[in-house]
Amino acid sequence: MTGVDYLERIPNNVNLRDNRRLLRALEDWQPKFLQWWLDLGPEGFQATRAYLRTAVSVDKDGWAQFDYVKMPDYRWGIFLAEPEPDRRLIGFGDHRGQPAWPEVPGEHRGVLRRLIVTQGDTEPASVEQQRHLGRTCPSVYDLRNLFQVNVEEGRHLWAMVYLLHAYFGRDGREEAEALLQRHSGDTDKPRILGAFNEPTPDWLSFFMFSFFTDRDGKYQLASLQESGFDPLARTCRFMLTEEAHHMFVGETGVGRIVQRTSELMRQGKTDEVRKEGGIDLPTIQRHINLHYSVSLDLFGSEISTNAANYYTTGLKGRFEETKKDDDHRLKEATYPVTLLEGDRIVTREMPALNALNERLRDDYIADCQRGVDRWNQIIKKQGIDFELKLPHRGFHRAIGSFAEARVSPDGRVIGEAEWNANREEWLPGERDRAYLTSLMLPVSKLGRFANWIAAPARGINGKPVDFEYVRLD
Ligand SMILES: [Fe+2]
Ligand SMILES: [Fe+2]
Repeated sequence: MTGVDYLERIPNNVNLRDNRRLLRALEDWQPKFLQWWLDLGPEGFQATRAYLRTAVSVDKDGWAQFDYVKMPDYRWGIFLAEPEPDRRLIGFGDHRGQPAWPEVPGEHRGVLRRLIVTQGDTEPASVEQQRHLGRTCPSVYDLRNLFQVNVEEGRHLWAMVYLLHAYFGRDGREEAEALLQRHSGDTDKPRILGAFNEPTPDWLSFFMFSFFTDRDGKYQLASLQESGFDPLARTCRFMLTEEAHHMFVGETGVGRIVQRTSELMRQGKTDEVRKEGGIDLPTIQRHINLHYSVSLDLFGSEISTNAANYYTTGLKGRFEETKKDDDHRLKEATYPVTLLEGDRIVTREMPALNALNERLRDDYIADCQRGVDRWNQIIKKQGIDFELKLPHRGFHRAIGSFAEARVSPDGRVIGEAEWNANREEWLPGERDRAYLTSLMLPVSKLGRFANWIAAPARGINGKPVDFEYVRLD
C-alpha cells in the first residue's frame, strides 16, 4: 500500500513529489489556506495544543495517529483511498461496465467542476460557522471533539482543492482561490448552500449540525464515491471515514443532552427543567425541526433533470449503488415521490432518474430516524413519556415542491395565520436563543461537564473521560 509521505511540506499519498507543477501550485495555495485558518478558524485557540488524530495511512487498520498538536501545525494533506486491484468499472448509467476514468472526460468538465466546488465549499464553511464555540465548551472532551471536526473539515477542503488543481487546470486554480474568499454568512460573498450560511451560535446547534448537516455530507460523499471519475471516487471514500466521527460527535452530543434532561426531569419530578439549568425536550425538538428541514433542502428539488444527467453520464451514483439489485440504468424505472399539488400532499410514481435527489433524501431520512429512535430510547429508559420526532418532510422547506407552502410538523398544509401562531412552538426563537446563550459557560476542569449535558460513556482513543484532551494552560 502507498504510505503517506510526511517528509514533504504537504503530506500525501499521491506522489506529489513526482509532479512538480502540481506541487508548486499546491504549495502556493498552502499559505493562503493557513492564513484563512488563522483568520476564520477556531477563535482563541490557535496556540493551544489538542489531542488530535492525524491520518498516517489510508488502510483500515492504521490510518490514525493521536498526539498533541497546535491546530495551525496540523498536517493537512492529500489522501486518496487505494485504487481497487482490478481497474474499477463504472457501476451505473450509460457508461456502466466501462473502465472508470483516471482523467476528467472533456464533455463533463464543467459539471464535475461544479460538483466538486459545491462539495468543497461546505468544508471551510462549517469551520467558519463553528469558530466561536471553543469559548463556551461544555467540557474539555467536547472541546477536543470540536477541534477534531474542524481540522478534518479543513482537510476535506484540501481534498477538493487537490482535485481542482490536479485535474481542472487554470479554472481549477481559480476555484480553489474562491473557496477561501467566500465566507459563511457574508452578505457579498456567501457560501454556496443555504445551511452553510446559518450561524452555529451554541453547542446544541453544533451537535444538531453535526448530526443532521454532516450526515447530508455523508450521503453526498457516498454517491460521489461511486463516480466514474476515479480520483473523485477515491477521495470521497477516504473522506467518509473521517465523516463518521463527525456524526458520532453529533449523535452522542444530542444523546448526552437528552440523557441529562431526562435525568433532571426524573429527579426533579418536573417538566420544567429550565429551572434546573437543563435544556427542555421541546427546545430540543425545535432544534431538530430546524436543522433537519434546513438539511433536507441540501438534497435539492424532488424532480431534477440535473440529478438524472449526473447519473446517466456516470458522474454521481446512488447511495450504496453496488448493493442495489436492478439494471443500474433506470431508464424504465419509477420511484414514489411526495409532492405538493395545490394544497394537497400526494405521492406519485415518477421516472426514477428524475427522482434521484428524492431517493437520496429518503435514504438520509431513514438514517436520521435511526438516530432519533436511539435518543427516544434514552428518554424511555428514564421512564419519561415523551417522543422526539422528525417533522414532515414538507415542514419549513425553502427548496423544491414544498417551498411554496406552509406545512405543519405533522404534515398538514396550513395557512399563514396558523403558521405564525405556532412558529415559536415549532422553531427556535429569541427566547430559546437567549436561554441557550445563558447556559453556554465554559467548563475547563478535566472530567467536569456543564450541567445541561451528561458525561460520555467513554473517552477518545481508549483514554479516560477526564483525560487532558486539550492543554489549556
Ligand atoms: Fe467534511
Ligand atoms: Fe463533516
